[in-house]
Amino acid sequence: MNEEFMPKIVGFLCNWCSYAGADLAGVSRLQMPPSLLTIKVMCSSRVDPLFVITTFLKGADAVMVAGCHPGDCHYQKGNYYTRRRFALLSKVFETLGLESERLRLSWISASEGPRFAKVVTEFTDKIKKMGPNSVKTEVFL
Ligand code: FES
Repeated sequence: MNEEFMPKIVGFLCNWCSYAGADLAGVSRLQMPPSLLTIKVMCSSRVDPLFVITTFLKGADAVMVAGCHPGDCHYQKGNYYTRRRFALLSKVFETLGLESERLRLSWISASEGPRFAKVVTEFTDKIKKMGPNSVKTEVFL
């Protein structure tokens, strides 16, 4: 048996931009790998770093957080907080010996369906090359 590894990527998508961008990609029938499990949040700043670490340890091969472009957050400064938290989270990952390359933060607007498809495809290809997450403690995904 030689089945190709398809990563399980959990994507936290902000309701107003990235989730709508994902929706647009879907209704436009854009091709994407079936790797992304989406969780809708009201703003990217709602994503507590613990959500990411827990998701990763419980079986995700990678985690993506996506929100409105800087300056476009519907809660004004939310994505600026997200950007800072994400930079810190990457450092925490490295300190713990985890691969921070398995994290991705992207800004995708509601009108960027093609960009959403491109980001998911590129990230999936990258994680495919890296292989499965070797530090997962449980598999529930
Ligand atoms: Fe989209 Fe804040 S509402 S990132």
